[in-house]
Parts: sequence; structure tokens; C-alpha cells
Amino acid sequence: MENFRMYVPTDIRFGKNRLTELEEVLLKYGNRVLLVYGGGSIKKTGLYDEIMTKLGKDKFHVVELSGINPNPRIDSVREGIRLVREEKLEVILAVGGGSVVDAAKVIAGGVYYEGDAWDLVVDSEKMENAIPIVDILTLAATGTEMNRNAVISNPETQEKLGTSGWELIPKVSFLDPTITFTVPPVQTSAGIADTLSHLFEQYFNRTEGNDVQNFLSEGLMQAVIKNSPVVLQDPENYDARANLLWASTLALNGLCSKGNSGAWSCHPIEHELSAYYDITHGIGLAIITPRWMKFCIDNDSSTHSKFALYGKNIWKLDGDNDEAVARKAVELTYHFFKDILSIPMTLSEVGIQSDALVNEMAKQAVLHGNLESGPYVPMSIENVEAVLLDCFMEMAEF
Ligand code: NZQ
Ligand code: ZN
Repeated sequence: MENFRMYVPTDIRFGKNRLTELEEVLLKYGNRVLLVYGGGSIKKTGLYDEIMTKLGKDKFHVVELSGINPNPRIDSVREGIRLVREEKLEVILAVGGGSVVDAAKVIAGGVYYEGDAWDLVVDSEKMENAIPIVDILTLAATGTEMNRNAVISNPETQEKLGTSGWELIPKVSFLDPTITFTVPPVQTSAGIADTLSHLFEQYFNRTEGNDVQNFLSEGLMQAVIKNSPVVLQDPENYDARANLLWASTLALNGLCSKGNSGAWSCHPIEHELSAYYDITHGIGLAIITPRWMKFCIDNDSSTHSKFALYGKNIWKLDGDNDEAVARKAVELTYHFFKDILSIPMTLSEVGIQSDALVNEMAKQAVLHGNLESGPYVPMSIENVEAVLLDCFMEMAEF
């Protein structure tokens, strides 16, 4: 096990009716609030009204920043920073999915930075301080509610980059599974694929002997796989939503990654798809993941035993031939995404008809993701291109 520091001070308020605690929580940080939210789902579901009623007019000064896009944009961040400064706001209340919380994080950090906020995305070293963030998470997926990361897009430069900072970790996250009842099936599936991808990115690594991290990851994968068909059939099943929500939080709060070495593979590639085509993060990951798994198995026989372990522990496969079990596990992963989650499994189906930008995206992914040396199986630009080209066709061989 590698040395690590794990520092995750987020105060989690999990369960039903916890918003009764919102006023007390916010007042610890101040009563001048920037309320950040997305395209309006919180108005349709009634959550916005509930929050405004709880905050009342006399106790809080609330300034709103709405319209945060999925794949949040740097312009929204700049606007948020302007509002905080102009209105002398003290705390951010982010209400939404990963996009809203990520935008809130970079706003919080940007308040203390004199230059342009995009600098903080390109170079996280510049992130020195931040105003406090409280969030009400509405979608199980990213884990942003209990980590220090944020991912922001810049449409002008066609970049989507991750940044991070210790100060960006939310102070308090409200996780109420009932709030996720209204997440539409496609976003529910995308969130599940994202959670699984986080677990895969951490599980497939070269560090030997990390039983704790491996067993935690496998346990979370099993919980996700078991509860996915339940929520898709019965979106208001409390326990199934609760399990998916808590699994998505734990999948990316450091628990499964600390002590492992190595960089990620599918995320840097997906971030290029989102940067160039603005597709949904979890959908892009579902498309890339089984092709990436096949790439690993095809190109590096030392990966066969770990993929076979994954097949045996997660998909209950057996057999002595590691490569055969590994390939069967990839096939089952692909069909889980396609048949259980109903995710369109080719790029053409998500509106990317041409492969003209594949080379460009591959170059950027290798550069931003340190893919040539960091990940489980290192990837050259040509390797990434080949994986992306595979994503245009249904998978027939595994
Ligand atoms: O914008 P609104 O109207 O709120 O609608 C959203 C949005 O259209 C909707 N939604 C959210 N909660 C809902 C709901 N609709 C009905 N009922 C609810 N309760 O869902 C849509 C997607 O929301 P979004 O926030 O974009 O989804 P997600 O949570 O999957 O976040 C994706 C973003 O997070 C980044 C991704 O790259 C992407 O930009 N990530 C952040 C990470 C992190 N900070 O650690 C790690 C991840 O790997 C990921 O990269
Ligand atoms: Zn992700």
C-alpha cells in the first residue's frame, strides 16, 4: 500500500427530511447566500420553493445564480464570482447534481483569486482558499459532494478539465434519497455508469496487496449492480435510491483510491468527448469502458488475472482460464450498460456521426490525462484513437 493522506471533513446529513437542519447549518457560515442551481429541475420538483420557505426572507439575503449547464461552463463560474464579490456573500448553497456543485466549488475558490477563474482550472496550485460550500445533492453520480474535485468546461478553447483544492470540499452535504426520485431514467443510468467507472478506474491499478481498497470497491460495485434494475423499474424505491446515492458518494471520496498508485484511463478520454460534443459524462463513460477493458486484455496479458478476479467476484463467473473469464466479464459489463441501463452504446447513437475529431481528441486525452505513463495500461495517441474508433460500432467480440 502506498502512503497517503485522507482528509474528508464533509459533514454528511443523509436521509429523509434533513432539510429541517438547513437554516442552522447555513447560519454557521453566514446569512448572505449565493444559491446556485441548474436548468430548473428544482423548480419543477418543488425543492426550490421548499428551500426558499426554509430560508425565509428576514433571516437570509439570498442571491441566485441559475442555469448551470450539465458540463458546467467557466462563464457561469465567472458570473458567480462577480455576484459573491458584489453582494458580499458569505456561503454558497449548491442545489443540483455534479455540474452545479462543481461550478459552486470553482466560484468558491475564485472569490479569493485576482486573475481569471479559468487559471484555477488549468492550474489547481493557484487555488488557495475558498468560501464555504453547503450542497443539497439531487443526483447520485459524481461523488463531488464529498471530495475536493471540480470539472469545468471552456467552450472557447474546447477544453473540459478537472481541478481540485482542499478548501473546495463541501462543508456540509445533504443527501436525501427522496430528492433523487425525480431523476429521469437516462440520467439515473448515466449516474450509475459514472459511479461504476469511478470504481473501475481505482480498482484496476498496479499496487499489490490493497485488500481493503479492493474489497471496498467490489462491495460498492455489487451494491450498485444489485440496486440499478430496482430503481429503473421503481424510481421511488427508497432503499434502492439510498444505496445508489451512498455508493456514489463513497466511490469517489478517497476510500477506494487512497493507497493505490496510477492515473485514470476512461475519464480523460470521456472528458474530450464532452469537451468537443457536450455529451453526458456517464453515457460517454459507458460507451468507452468495455472497449478500454478489451484494449487492456488484448494488449497486456498481465491484466488478465485482475479482470478475471473482477469477473469472478462481481459477475460470479468461474473457470481456470483467466483470459476467457476476463473477456466474459467485459461482455457482461457491456450488456449491463446496454440491456439493464438501456444506454446507447455507440457514439453514433449519441449524435457523433463523424470520426473527424478522433485524432485531435486522442492527443488532448493523452496530454491532459498523462495516459502514456500513468494508467493501468499506458496508452499512446494511437491506442486512444483505436479505442475511440471502436466506440462507433456495436461490440461483437470481447
Ligand atoms: O439542470 P437541472 O435542471 O437541475 O437538471 C439536471 C441536468 O439536466 C438533471 N437533474 C439533476 N437532479 C435532478 C435532475 N432532474 C430531475 N430530478 C433531479 N433530482 O440531471 C441533469 C444532469 O445533471 P448534472 O449535474 O450534469 O449530472 P451529474 O451529477 O452526473 O454531473 C456531471 C458533471 O460532473 C462532472 C462531469 O464531468 C460532469 O461535468 N464530474 C465531476 C466529478 C467530481 N467533481 O468529482 C467527477 C466525475 O467523474 C465527473 O467528471
Ligand atoms: Zn466520472
